[in-house]
Amino acid sequence: MSPGTIALVVVAVSILGWAAFMANVTIRKHREGAAQLGGDTNDQPTATSASGRTITATAKPAAASTSDAVTVETVPEKKRKPLSPEELAVSRRQFLNRAWSLSFIGFLGLFGMSSLSFLWPKLQGGFGTKINAGNYKDILKKIGPDAGYIPVFNSEGRFWLSYYDGTGDSPVYAAIGALDTHVQALYRKCVHLGCSVPHCDKSMLFECPCHGSKYRLHGEYFGGPAPRGLDRFPVTVEGGQLIVDTGKVQTGPPRGTNTWPKFAEPVGPFCVPV
Ligand code: FES
Repeated sequence: MSPGTIALVVVAVSILGWAAFMANVTIRKHREGAAQLGGDTNDQPTATSASGRTITATAKPAAASTSDAVTVETVPEKKRKPLSPEELAVSRRQFLNRAWSLSFIGFLGLFGMSSLSFLWPKLQGGFGTKINAGNYKDILKKIGPDAGYIPVFNSEGRFWLSYYDGTGDSPVYAAIGALDTHVQALYRKCVHLGCSVPHCDKSMLFECPCHGSKYRLHGEYFGGPAPRGLDRFPVTVEGGQLIVDTGKVQTGPPRGTNTWPKFAEPVGPFCVPV
């Protein structure tokens, strides 16, 4: 269910709840009024005939007869009296009360919907959604052997795209689709304390400037205080485009994972001294 649908359901349920509450209050008032009117009559059972006439059943006094015979007498229809000014005033008051209640409900509904729409994150692109990183073949050329395996950064999705040609001997590689595509989308956020991690073209490691954690080209842990390798996002190829789902972060492989011997060790000096 999309966030917009959830917001609509919440608002609709709130309005229905309020309407049910108001209806309940009105019905109870109506019943109380009817009960009071009924109490004013002489507690005689009454019924309304099909013609609209009121029929009253009265029991004969026991002394007059030994049987429980019931006589039914017809009461002539009364002419309706015009409403008095006081009764008219009450009707007007009721009308105003209901109109006020309805407008209040409408206001609440609009206010609730606009508040929810303001507070709800609008995931229509950018980080947290599926991002089209570009033409798949072009990306492979940019980050592959022909270009020296230098990864490229995607600022919209906050990930590094790096080439991968390892064994995939860790569950995360199957989860992210790196074995099929030879591409990884590595989350730039250091898994130690969250700094942005740049790539060092000299060592071919990702080196965190904050506390010196180091990760291999494919994001596996190499050194420093980080508890594991860099987290990553699933990648797929759709219609020739590389799609990165930044809404599904996959936890990086644990320390000790080493699935690509080619980049198991730094190829040059560090950018961030140990
Ligand atoms: S935040 Fe990266 S090493 Fe501490």
